[in-house]
Amino acid sequence: MVEKFPGKHLLIGFSGIISNAALGSLVWVEDTDDAWIDGEVVEANDDDVKVNCQTKTVVAKANAVYPKDPEFPELGVDDMTKLAYLHEPGVLLNLKARYNANEIYTYTGNILIAVNPFKRLPHLYGNDIMEQYKGSDFGDLSPHPFAVADSAYRKMINEGVSQAILVSGESGAGKTESTKMLMQYLAFMGGKAQTEGRSVEQQVLESNPVLEAFGNAKTVKNNNSSRFGKFVEIQFNHMGRISGAAIRTYLLERSRVCQVSDPERNYHCFYMLCAAPEQEIERYKLGEPSTFHYLNQSNCYSLSALDDAKEYLATRKAMEVVGISSEEQVRFGGHFT
Ligand SMILES: *[C@@H]1O[C@H](CO)[C@@H](O)[C@H](O)[C@H]1NC(C)=O
Ligand SMILES: *[C@@H]1O[C@H](CO)[C@@H](O)[C@H](O)[C@H]1NC(C)=O
Ligand SMILES: *[C@@H]1O[C@H](CO)[C@@H](O)[C@H](O)[C@H]1NC(C)=O
Repeated sequence: MVEKFPGKHLLIGFSGIISNAALGSLVWVEDTDDAWIDGEVVEANDDDVKVNCQTKTVVAKANAVYPKDPEFPELGVDDMTKLAYLHEPGVLLNLKARYNANEIYTYTGNILIAVNPFKRLPHLYGNDIMEQYKGSDFGDLSPHPFAVADSAYRKMINEGVSQAILVSGESGAGKTESTKMLMQYLAFMGGKAQTEGRSVEQQVLESNPVLEAFGNAKTVKNNNSSRFGKFVEIQFNHMGRISGAAIRTYLLERSRVCQVSDPERNYHCFYMLCAAPEQEIERYKLGEPSTFHYLNQSNCYSLSALDDAKEYLATRKAMEVVGISSEEQVRFGGHFT
């Protein structure tokens, strides 16, 4: 064969499920209680396998069992691409092993997976930690949002091209916290440009109460569910310093405004408006939530943990902080009456 492009290679990767069902092999089987349980194949025919697990013996379809790595390290691996088998039970076992060791972050290549610890872990986010991640190669240190932010920041500086970081996950996964960590690191690298005594980062963070008033609602599962996506743009000057920020919300679940089903509520802001101080109630011709068609389709009007009157004042205050003038706030209010 003539080598036209010496030194260049074209790699074609492929993968497939090898026969999982050989007698004596270790496999994962789906389980209604524990999601996945592992055991040894003790019987196998063309379609079905019998698996001896610790607590029970299960018969499963041969193509529904997945091989288990007998040499899986007890503390897991920090990058899923190092796993012997990249399938659902393997990924979940790895995340669980790391979570039990208080390691809430794991990479899959250059994707960072975060598991909500449901407790504060301040030792992970100090200035000393940011110093460590500053300029370190991606993957050299433990998985961390700072590493993602650092890599994006340096790419932006070195290549002069805008970068995007996508934070996604289900309700309660910790997207808001992760976003704050990313912004904290970018503010650390980009210096704090002061505007009227408040840093841009502070203003961005304090915009959260505003976005949550207009974009959070009670759903069946969550009394404070964010029903919107948020696009935060942080602008840097040619020196790599933060020069501004813009927050755009998009994909608000708009159907929720005019259609509410029973144990749910409309967006928090409507109930806050109905709990405004007396003179504003009169000025905007407001009243009890139960007198409005958009709110009285559901029987739920108040939430035990949410004081709408207090939240109304807090939201007005937050609007001021992020630079929405009183006139603009009143115009906003006008739209709702
Ligand atoms: C809901 O609000 C509408 C509009 O104000 C009103 O006509 C209706 O009687 C209310 N329904 C209930 C059950 O209160
Ligand atoms: C959600 O709000 C309802 C109504 O106030 C309350 O009964 C329930 O306990 C709240 N749930 C949580 C998890 O706070
Ligand atoms: C709703 O959740 C946000 C964070 O997602 C939090 O900042 C806010 O205080 C919560 N509000 C209530 C009323 O629980």
